Amino acid sequence: MGGYDEAYRRSIERPGEFWAEAARGIDWDVAPTTVHGDGRWFPDGRLNTCHNAVDRHVTAGRGEQPALIYDSPVTGAVRTITYAELRDEVARTAGLLRDLGVRAGDTVVIYMPMVPEAVIGMLACARLGAVHSVVFGGFAAGELAVRIDHARPKVVLSASCGIEPGRVVAYKPLLDAALAQAEHRPERCVILQRPQAVAELAEGRDLDWARAVREARPAGCVSVAATDPLYILYTSGTTGSPKGVVRDNGGHAVALHWSMAHVYGAAPGEVYWAASDVGWVVGHSYIVYAPLLAGCTTVLYEGKPVGTPDPGAFWRVVATHGVRTLFTAPTAIRAIKKEDPSGSFAKKWDLSGLRHLFLAGERLDPDTYHWASDLLGIPVIDHWWQTETGWPMAANCVGIETLPIRPGAPTKPVPGWDIRVLDPDGEECPPGVDGAVTVRLPLPPGSLPTLYRDDARFARSYLERYPGHYLTGDGGHLDADGYLYVMGRIDDVINVAGHRLSTGSMEEVIASHPDVAECAVIGVADELKGQLPVGFVVLKAGSERDPTDLERELTALMRERIGPVAAFRRAVVVSRLPKTRSGKILRATMRDIADGRPYGTPSTIEDPAALPEIARAMKRT
Ligand code: COA
Ligand code: AMP
Repeated sequence: MGGYDEAYRRSIERPGEFWAEAARGIDWDVAPTTVHGDGRWFPDGRLNTCHNAVDRHVTAGRGEQPALIYDSPVTGAVRTITYAELRDEVARTAGLLRDLGVRAGDTVVIYMPMVPEAVIGMLACARLGAVHSVVFGGFAAGELAVRIDHARPKVVLSASCGIEPGRVVAYKPLLDAALAQAEHRPERCVILQRPQAVAELAEGRDLDWARAVREARPAGCVSVAATDPLYILYTSGTTGSPKGVVRDNGGHAVALHWSMAHVYGAAPGEVYWAASDVGWVVGHSYIVYAPLLAGCTTVLYEGKPVGTPDPGAFWRVVATHGVRTLFTAPTAIRAIKKEDPSGSFAKKWDLSGLRHLFLAGERLDPDTYHWASDLLGIPVIDHWWQTETGWPMAANCVGIETLPIRPGAPTKPVPGWDIRVLDPDGEECPPGVDGAVTVRLPLPPGSLPTLYRDDARFARSYLERYPGHYLTGDGGHLDADGYLYVMGRIDDVINVAGHRLSTGSMEEVIASHPDVAECAVIGVADELKGQLPVGFVVLKAGSERDPTDLERELTALMRERIGPVAAFRRAVVVSRLPKTRSGKILRATMRDIADGRPYGTPSTIEDPAALPEIARAMKRT
């Protein structure tokens, strides 16, 4: 293959040929004769994703190669699982699910910490053609309940606990609370007992994972249509109810397999580490599926960048396991930099095997880029994507051609992604001018075909604003050389420590407090986490509350309803919210004030005095 320009042009001008070639990297039960039809990729192909991620590598002679290295500084465990062992474990776990009645097309919710069984559970579902929906462990019972009610799982896979630095998080009581709140009843819950907190099992409903898997007979791979769903991953939209992003089997396998070689430059047999969580899309794509589809060794890390035990944790993992490619979020690098500004911990380890550091999840600020790049002396690559797209939309595709890096830009559109920056009228913005970042249809393989049980919301959220284009929800611009700059969300989604959260759902929680008349939550710039949520609260008439007490109550309520991951700690009482005369809260102006940017007073404002009050309140916090 030639350079980037040629690959990109071919992917846009001759997508059928481009993706048919990429599809040869996958084992098909029935090879697709059509590459793209009726808006779907490989519509007549059949395959099994687990076979492609696991079994075929054993057959090809990689049985003794580590498939997964579990490194857990919070428990002191390090465990290596070969491809042959992974196949056997996954086959037995799939056998258990099959014996519990799980069939192709059924859903299974997975609420697990970062342990090998989480990966095994996902692959076991894929093996049966069942559809998993992983819920991030940092979400509270209420969020889990909402997802259980929407996904309607036949079985839930969970564990007795997760381990956060300094505390054991008992998951089972959270699961029990979620099931008490949810209307849907899964038939069974399979619980992995961890020694740090053993859970009580409900007679007749809950099974002990280890025992049940030991007794199960292995199940084989079930052939599914390329267009059948592999998983649902809920992500934050602008309202309280999360969006169930659907991923198919065929397009996903093809795109992720292609991305490993071409975006990341990773070869089979290499060690690839995405320091994220299986609860997020980065974990789905680049801890579990892509590295395994490519025959790499993936690292599953149960720990943090700092405090487990020190800011050298990442460098230890890289050096001891021979990591060639590291992928994490800028916030993790900022956390390391804050505790070890001189990089002295990195210098203690032999990092000569590390070839690339990839960062995503939020904008890579130039300071963090320069710090990491100076420290490591390797290409530090910002790349941009989202849960919906499943894999990078813009990156420096080092497997094709490493382009000069421009700090602040995730380089250029990845082959397959026809990125267009549009103004409010749908016209393309000239270079350097910010607009809505969109993708001209069709989206390439691997991106979402729809939202689970909500085709109408899919169309409304992504396709209707600019006909013929997919709306990413991000704003930014292209420069004269085609480099993309993504500046931030243009909706009410915020990004806290690389975690995507909805201010709408936080507003629902605050509004449920008995003393609150109305509220608005916005994301405010934070040096470490990128953004932090701040709530502006108007009290009910006659309600006399101490602001500190109220802030404490709202913080507790947010942890209980959404979870600690919301990182909500600041609530400010104001006498009124800035609104238009038609009652719309001026969130964008509030964000400008909060981040210290110049702001204008919109002519439609109901009460101009509301804006200076927000400014004064921000100064006080
Ligand atoms: N289960 C239970 N609780 C969890 C959890 C989980 N899986 N993950 C996080 N939490 C809790 C944390 O313990 C913390 O609780 P606290 O408020 O009681 O301290 C809270 O949720 C916020 O967590 P987090 O945002 O992770 O902040 P932190 O202060 O613990 O760590 C960083 C800060 C920057 C080190 C951390 O956010 C990080 O490593 N981020 C990388 C982000 C990432 O991987 N994103 C995925 C996209 S690539
Ligand atoms: P998520 O769906 O959780 O992966 O979050 C996706 C959102 O995170 C995107 O829509 C962006 O707002 C933001 N994001 C992810 N990666 C980047 C990046 N490299 N640069 C800027 N923003 C990013």
